[in-house]
Amino acid sequence: GKVAVLLGGESAEREVSLASGSAVLKTLHDAGIDAHGFDPAHRSIHELISESFDRAFIMLHGRGGEDGVIQGALQQLKIRYTGTGVLGSALAMDKVLSKLVWSARNMPTADYRVLEKATFNADECALILADLGGTVMVKPSREGSSIGMAKANEPKVLQKAIETAFTFDDDVLVEAYIDGPEYTVAIVNGKALPSIRMTSPHDFYDYDAKYGSNTTEYFCPSGLPAAQEQELSRLALTAFEMLSGAGWGRVDLMRDKHGKFYLLESNTAPGMTETSLVPKAAKQAGMSFQDLVVRILSQTLS
Ligand code: DAL
Ligand code: MG
Repeated sequence: GKVAVLLGGESAEREVSLASGSAVLKTLHDAGIDAHGFDPAHRSIHELISESFDRAFIMLHGRGGEDGVIQGALQQLKIRYTGTGVLGSALAMDKVLSKLVWSARNMPTADYRVLEKATFNADECALILADLGGTVMVKPSREGSSIGMAKANEPKVLQKAIETAFTFDDDVLVEAYIDGPEYTVAIVNGKALPSIRMTSPHDFYDYDAKYGSNTTEYFCPSGLPAAQEQELSRLALTAFEMLSGAGWGRVDLMRDKHGKFYLLESNTAPGMTETSLVPKAAKQAGMSFQDLVVRILSQTLS
């Protein structure tokens, strides 16, 4: 039947989603599949029914598309969709809830504090820094692509970073900074693909380092010894499953100078743009972009 590639949407990651969705759409056409782009920012989801779509490839990022909302709507409409269901999408979109689940089950993740907009007091900043080792990452709980994030190591800078993060979400996560390269593990159909290591001359792997800059370096294979690669794959798969992840996704981690991994977050509709990570890992595993996309779509048939 007809496949809707859901793209765009209303989140802060709209532009990224348009790029991911267009790449997927083009590839589905190349594979001879009757696929059409569908932007829920401009259309009613009921048109999926009136236009006889029976499957959806979710390429929406961020709130409204990656957080369980669209997944619940599709379930109501009896349209099959790619990837994780309602609960898992909601959990993975929420960095605070992800942390709570992982830490309750002894998974490695950096120390943190949760701040709420209604009760935040700027006088706490010095104490937060002291508690979390002097350098922290500030993150809106439910954003993607590093939007609204900043690094801080002084109370005034931290205050500013927290206030900025509150413009994106009422809940803000402040995490101890892990000084080491970032790694990511793509997961497709229950299997971990080869890990990728990212390095950037920026403060961290921020929005520009992800989509704009040509100074970001990607290493895949990541250079880990086989035993550590295996440990990393297992960690990522377990972390993904604990958050009820299904089908495909990507787990992001940091590795400190002692070689210990720390979970950052899980993404249930990760980027599929030119510079995106899942396609890079797939390529290393011998899977073309088209193979990858068709494999993900096939989840809607099982
Ligand atoms: N949130 C972006 C799209 C990613 O994880 O790739
Ligand atoms: Mg994310």
